Amino acid sequence: MRLENKKAIVTGGAGGIGRATCLALAAEGAEVAVVDLNQQAAQAVADEIRAAGGSAIAIGADVSSEADITRVVQTAVDAFGTINIVHNNAGIIRRTTALEIDVDEWDLVFGVNVRAIYLMCKHVVPIMAAAGKGSIINTGSGWGLKGGGRALSYCASKGAVVNMTRALAIDHGPAGIRVNSVNPGDVNTGMLRDEARQVAQEENSFLAESADRPLGRMGEPREIAAAVVWLASDESSYVTGSALVVDGGGIA
Ligand SMILES: NC(=O)c1ccc[n+]([C@@H]2O[C@H](COP(=O)([O-])OP(=O)(O)OC[C@H]3O[C@@H](n4cnc5c(N)ncnc54)[C@H](O)[C@@H]3O)[C@@H](O)[C@H]2O)c1
Repeated sequence: MRLENKKAIVTGGAGGIGRATCLALAAEGAEVAVVDLNQQAAQAVADEIRAAGGSAIAIGADVSSEADITRVVQTAVDAFGTINIVHNNAGIIRRTTALEIDVDEWDLVFGVNVRAIYLMCKHVVPIMAAAGKGSIINTGSGWGLKGGGRALSYCASKGAVVNMTRALAIDHGPAGIRVNSVNPGDVNTGMLRDEARQVAQEENSFLAESADRPLGRMGEPREIAAAVVWLASDESSYVTGSALVVDGGGIA
């Protein structure tokens, strides 16, 4: 197993990609703290891991809140002793243009997609630095690299994720901490289905693009999770600051 004795935090761990990451990390031997706004769903993922013989705890939290992030990190350290891996994955999307989104919604998207990563790093980097090693993986998006239609706050926030990943890698590489982003194309999750409700299907370029891509289909959560496991493991020991695209082809 590639992650034996490793301790991990996954945010948005009850959602499509987060759940798949939690299961994949646990299958490689990591102990996992499943963090989500939806505590009940996080508990179900932790139960699933334990039923399969793994080790996991569930923590209900709003990742945009510093008080909640402080509690998450403390709870995970109390349970596991340390933190080696963080997957900052919780995210939300609003399918609106500059003319449609209001300031509160803008701040909400940036709170969950961007501020949460800064807050998690603020509290977890000292723990990893003390150990001289750690791997942080942030979920960006293809739309953070190339933009997309009718999702201004989302595209801006995911662009921020990609570049803050590089900045974090520069700042904390000397302490032995690697920071990378994984950038999915369209993946078969609740977020994509929610989007289909926010925007008429014919306008939904996420869905339209997947058919045009070289692999001709949308991705499955486990295919993103496999990339996260690789970035979490020592197999990627010389990889930091990178923006790994996992999209079936077509973004770059
Ligand atoms: N699905 C896609 O096509 C796609 C494409 C590119 C990027 N992404 C990114 O992947 C990540 C995971 O998305 P997904 O598709 O699995 O979506 P999802 O909606 O299935 O899961 C997101 C999870 O985040 C949780 N969450 C939302 N706000 C939170 C908060 N404030 N605090 C804690 N948890 C919170 C939700 O409860 C949910 O369980 C997101 O960052 C998303 O932007 C998804």
